[in-house]
Amino acid sequence: MPNKINKLAVLTSGGDSPGMNAAIRSVVRTCAYHDVECVGVYRGYEGLIEGDFKQMDARSVRGIINKGGTILKSARSEEFRTKEGRQKAYQKLVDNNIDGLVVIGGDGSFTGALIFNNEFGFPVMGIPGTIDNDIFGTSHTLGFDTALNTVVDAIDKIRDTASSHNRLFFIEVMGRDVGHIALNTGIAGGAEEILIPEEDLGLDRLVDSLNRSRTSGKTSSIVIVAEGDKIGKNIFELKEYVDENMEGYDVRVSVLGHMQRGGSPSCFDRVLASRMGVKAVETLLEGKTNYMVGLIANKMELTPLDKAIKGKTKINLELLRVSDIMSI
Ligand code: F6P
Repeated sequence: MPNKINKLAVLTSGGDSPGMNAAIRSVVRTCAYHDVECVGVYRGYEGLIEGDFKQMDARSVRGIINKGGTILKSARSEEFRTKEGRQKAYQKLVDNNIDGLVVIGGDGSFTGALIFNNEFGFPVMGIPGTIDNDIFGTSHTLGFDTALNTVVDAIDKIRDTASSHNRLFFIEVMGRDVGHIALNTGIAGGAEEILIPEEDLGLDRLVDSLNRSRTSGKTSSIVIVAEGDKIGKNIFELKEYVDENMEGYDVRVSVLGHMQRGGSPSCFDRVLASRMGVKAVETLLEGKTNYMVGLIANKMELTPLDKAIKGKTKINLELLRVSDIMSI
């Protein structure tokens, strides 16, 4: 019979994303609902090792559902990669009578949680929080929807100036090594071309396509480039290549960067975060461990952490076809 859970800890780890605060709020309030104590851990695994804890109750998380970032802050911890570091973290949890841990983060954070459980048998549960949407076992990671809306807003603004000056803009978006943000926002932003790491169609095809756009009467173009795209070494070399191989196009570059990680979470992300927090806590209370909660066919489902970590979300081929047709 698994140990009864009387006290849980929650932390945020890896790149922050809009919706993390809504998830923290849900974890804390679900604990309160079940008369379980809850402790917030500052600065991810680094704070866990140091015992940087804060007792939290339903009132501690008021007014944060609409805030981007994470009130618990996040950090990447080299020490937690060591057995000694994990041992210190385990001792802090034991010393504070904590029975389980909710980790809000990406696959790297889940890898740490799984190793921690394997070494100490300590119950852990994952909530997928990253704007990349690259985690297997959920159609949406926390922050993805908000990031899409942030990027589309930026594309619309850049398109205003591109059309006013008959310019070609290369816009780089985040996604580390996946093209989900680029593909979705490229379609929504009406981009002429979308370059993603899952496809490597070559520079000549890009120039041909842009020439076709211009021949068809387009006087300005938007090309969305995922940061992990392999077609060019980097977005500035893409610009140089087009400058050299296309006459009469005034080419500019815009790297959106970390603004994609900020902002008030969308309604979708707030609801998703609230659902995930409830599912994560109640799954731990049922005596389960080593799962990630995820949205699958609009239902809260559980995926074993080792599968969530190893799996990779594939690019949506139907979306890829839509983007090809739309850029005719
Ligand atoms: O994983 C989320 C993410 O924003 C990626 O899209 C991006 O490549 C990376 O984090 C940036 O990491 P950092 O915030 O450490 O620069």
